[in-house]
Amino acid sequence: MAERTYHAVTLETVQGDITRQDDLDAVVNAANARLRPGGGVAGAIHRAAGPGLARECEALAPIQPGQAVITAGHDLPNRHVIHCLGPVYGLDEPADQLLAACYRRALQLADEAGLTSIGFPAISTGVFGYPMAPAARVALYAVAAKADSLTSVKLVRFVLFAREDLAVFDQVLETMTEC
Ligand code: APR
Repeated sequence: MAERTYHAVTLETVQGDITRQDDLDAVVNAANARLRPGGGVAGAIHRAAGPGLARECEALAPIQPGQAVITAGHDLPNRHVIHCLGPVYGLDEPADQLLAACYRRALQLADEAGLTSIGFPAISTGVFGYPMAPAARVALYAVAAKADSLTSVKLVRFVLFAREDLAVFDQVLETMTEC
């Protein structure tokens, strides 16, 4: 668990389940292009949100790699879900720029909606195969670089499922240079 503040936006890391972040205004879904329930994060979010989320998503799909869309949180404890389609590693290129775009666009949507807090899973690092260490660098630097253009968002939490994934994020966060 680590924490750092850039331009009045706190970046923090925790080990946990993205569907159990009761204190956050929004959580991010590592979505598929059709915005359907899937495995991993998408499965967990749709299970916790209930069928209303899939119905709302139908009108917004499909989305492209690097894009993000916002919905209500339905039965989740959060007001909103922001759905990002990360790059499939080795297929969607340039992977680092597409992954960074997910984080930037999700933050932009949260900020425009007047939200103060948002939680991200490690987008693309499961089924989509992005290695954790480079994904952590892209994620943390993208959020830190976006911080000075945010007016509403004050807390960005990275929610890592596994203890070893948390350690990777912590190592990057603790050694980051100024953005
Ligand atoms: N909370 C937090 N993190 C989670 C959770 C959870 N409940 N479940 C899984 N994770 C972690 C995984 O361990 C991985 O590190 O989130 C990361 C992203 O994994 P995926 O959910 O597989 O997301 P991604 O790699 O972006 O692939 C998206 O997977 O489930 C399908 O339909 C989805 O096609 C889409 C693809």
